Amino acid sequence: MVHFPNGFLWGAATAAHQVEGNNINSDLWVLEHIEPTLFVEPSLDACDHLRLYPEDIKLLAQLGFNTYRFSIEWARVEPERGHFSTAAMEHYRRVLVACHENGITPMVTLYHFSSPRWFAAMGGWERPESLELFVRYAARVARHLGDLVQFATTFNEPNLPMQLRWLPITEVPIVKVKRMAKVAARAIGADKFGCFFLGNGDVLRDRMIAAHHRALEAMKSGPGNYQVGVSVSLQDEQPAGADSRRNQKCAEVYDPWLYAADKSDFLGVQAYTRCRVGKRSDLSPEPGAEITQMGYEFWPEALEACIRYANERVKVPIYITENGVATDDDERRVEYVRRALGGVLNCITDGIDVRGYIHWSLLDNFEWIMGYRPRFGLVAVDRATQTRSVKPSAHYLGEIARHNRMLPNPPA
Ligand code: BGC
Repeated sequence: MVHFPNGFLWGAATAAHQVEGNNINSDLWVLEHIEPTLFVEPSLDACDHLRLYPEDIKLLAQLGFNTYRFSIEWARVEPERGHFSTAAMEHYRRVLVACHENGITPMVTLYHFSSPRWFAAMGGWERPESLELFVRYAARVARHLGDLVQFATTFNEPNLPMQLRWLPITEVPIVKVKRMAKVAARAIGADKFGCFFLGNGDVLRDRMIAAHHRALEAMKSGPGNYQVGVSVSLQDEQPAGADSRRNQKCAEVYDPWLYAADKSDFLGVQAYTRCRVGKRSDLSPEPGAEITQMGYEFWPEALEACIRYANERVKVPIYITENGVATDDDERRVEYVRRALGGVLNCITDGIDVRGYIHWSLLDNFEWIMGYRPRFGLVAVDRATQTRSVKPSAHYLGEIARHNRMLPNPPA
């Protein structure tokens, strides 16, 4: 089979903090500008997408895509606790209008890792009132923008703190993390810096699952009529050795969120690589494995494995809301996409209800603590001039999108 189902969504994704630029009221901006910090460089202007979104959305449409996944920045919409910015909401309205004018279906994420700095200052997700504060923000967004939205997710990868727990202890600079959090708290005059990445995974899981369900209700009661889901980070978890704790890891890191997604309209699957799970923690890739700029294995087959894992736990439709590879060798990106989509087709052939593929990312962008070094974009960005250059992989995936079928040959 080479055809994808009718109405399949084909898109590329971004996240506000990674592309918009000058997100100065966010907690991550604080972390980027203190000493010591784990961030190799600050985000600064990022891809200036705050200004250049009309061109970026037009380009996405011209390439053949029909969907744009982007996030709304809580720190812009509510820069001080209880004070909402109409101007920021109007900005996101214009982004949504630009999508519609270009024949693009928007998929909006409400929370993609970054929080307002006041939220971090009050202790973040570990504080019980965080739930109501997030729901209030979600309700405001729904009221202002709901009529233009077709798909929304509450959270992007809310299971990440649980996933990070499995990193080998040698890869976690615990002392540096603690120092950074302490200095950040002092910088904003708080006792604790309640940032999502630094939160207690167990507390965050329970709080954010509750917040997801409540925000979903709030979004459903506003104007418009759209699908609401959640995007979960998955890896192709493979047992390494007879004493591997792979099943325990899956049960802790994925299953609670997959069951939450199952009570929603859809599940967003995000998958990049495979992981070998040992007795205590994740293990490094095997010697000789091809490693991407992120330090993990080039493994496009992860997507099929993750869809199958999720499908055993959810009955709702699945959208791939992120999948991609960090590399400067665009031919490897084409190869990655080709093999990942082959896996998607295998799943569809077996009757799994996969309804869309959204690539990470539209643009080379700010890859969190790793700065601008890893390049995931279908489109390169010269950050000195903010000039965009389309890579061959963008044409390859765009043509697949336009024809809604696999193409035999990547572009020469
Ligand atoms: C995140 C993105 C990130 C990407 C590549 C996902 O975990 O949602 O923000 O840039 O992976 O690392």
